[in-house]
Amino acid sequence: MIATKKTKLLCYAVICVAMLLGCQHGGEKLPDTVTFTEHVAPILYNNCTVCHRPGGGAHFDLITYQEAKKYALSIGYVTKERLMPPWPADPHYTEFKGQRVLSETDIKILAKWAIDGSVEGPKEKMPHLPNYPTGSLAGMPDMRIAVAPYYLPANSGDKFLLVKVPYELPADTFASLVEFVPGNSNVVHHVNGDFVKYVFEKKKTVFAGVYAVDMVEDTAGLVKGFQKLDLPNDDGSYPVLQKSVVNYLPGAVGQKYPAGIGGYYLPRKGAFLLNDIHYGFTNKNEARDSSHINIFFSKVPPNRPVQEFQLGTLGAAPVEPDLVIQPNTVKNVSSRLKVAKDISILTINPHMHLLGKSFLAYAIKPEGDTIRLISIPRWDFSWQYFYTFKKMVKVPAGSTIVAEGIYDNTTHNPNNPNNPPLVVTDQNGSMKATDEMFQFIVTYLPYQPGDENLSLE
Ligand code: HEC
Repeated sequence: MIATKKTKLLCYAVICVAMLLGCQHGGEKLPDTVTFTEHVAPILYNNCTVCHRPGGGAHFDLITYQEAKKYALSIGYVTKERLMPPWPADPHYTEFKGQRVLSETDIKILAKWAIDGSVEGPKEKMPHLPNYPTGSLAGMPDMRIAVAPYYLPANSGDKFLLVKVPYELPADTFASLVEFVPGNSNVVHHVNGDFVKYVFEKKKTVFAGVYAVDMVEDTAGLVKGFQKLDLPNDDGSYPVLQKSVVNYLPGAVGQKYPAGIGGYYLPRKGAFLLNDIHYGFTNKNEARDSSHINIFFSKVPPNRPVQEFQLGTLGAAPVEPDLVIQPNTVKNVSSRLKVAKDISILTINPHMHLLGKSFLAYAIKPEGDTIRLISIPRWDFSWQYFYTFKKMVKVPAGSTIVAEGIYDNTTHNPNNPNNPPLVVTDQNGSMKATDEMFQFIVTYLPYQPGDENLSLE
């Protein structure tokens, strides 16, 4: 799928030259000569090099003049189409913390640079590349735990693993952030990580058992996996599992909330459970990965622990009508959940697979007003961020949260995994990309006065 997309991008880039030339007569006040050092590098360094640098997750860098010049036409195309930087949410509907959205002027500058011959410009005008700390995007961690290294032979397909990352500490403590850092960002596709919290006396050692097993999607397979990883307590019972503590997607930066909000109670014995880690294909080359997890301690206990609910597939509110998508149809579904108490929403995560076409979520207050949450007019399976609001969003008791999705199971959908299209459902609760899901995950706090004015940035 990725290869097709890339080819498509390249073809369009060529066709696009004509379109780029067309937009030159818009009467904008652009510099007479757009140069790399003066105009283009600052845009790339602010919006692109977080991924387009060694270790950043994209497969090529956009740091030097030579690198950027080689991609000048594609850069013009992907920015004009707003495919890059990847930010599927519509910034005119709602804005989020850390959003990467280019201004119209930035886009025109990149286009003009591509068609005006991609001039380098005066060397002394070159800006400094932002300082990307190695091994973390969030600062200097207090503890670093290695994830079991993984070896992918040449031409291996997608791999989904269940991985245990255990630790022991001298005493119980708190953490403000747990961050997953990929060792080989070319192959680590995504990670969903939970947190297993042991009661000290109930587990002799957290280090026994194997550390990684192939993910099997049915419940029996999962339970067997958990046993191989030696996750249960010594008496066979299961410890507490906190969901979604450490997630990774290319370009996503770990969320530290203001002190006391969110964060984790870190018992002396624990383990992160990557459930799952997805390794992408390796083409002709073998690949190795040694990822790690960073922990940032906190002196402040998580006084206001973040809570979570989920609409849709496997969630607290059903998908309506059932998510059964007949071949050659476009299907609208929704999911609605009434909130019983006032809540403050921090972060939201819309989730669909390859047939997803668009996603919209909002809340309807008891008196009928609408609170906007997110609009994704052009669903992109590759970029499924956890979107954090700049300030918490208060949703009062009695409101209904509504999530609406549209699926395209026709041949017009270039991401349709089936040609000819087949019936696709979420009925087996499978996470395979070729089955579907419709989910809206909301992390929130019980509302306290003043929440809506507290900056999360
Ligand atoms: C969040 C990470 C991220 C950011 C930020 C980002 N990119 Fe990308 N970019 C990628 C990834 C990953 C790919 C490969 C996508 C694929 O192969 O489907 C890509 C692909 C591209 C391509 C397509 C290359 C080809 O194969 O034809 C271009 C051009 C590009 N990016 C330019 C940019 C520019 C310009 C910016 C900033 C304005 C930017 N990107 C910001 C991750 C990012």
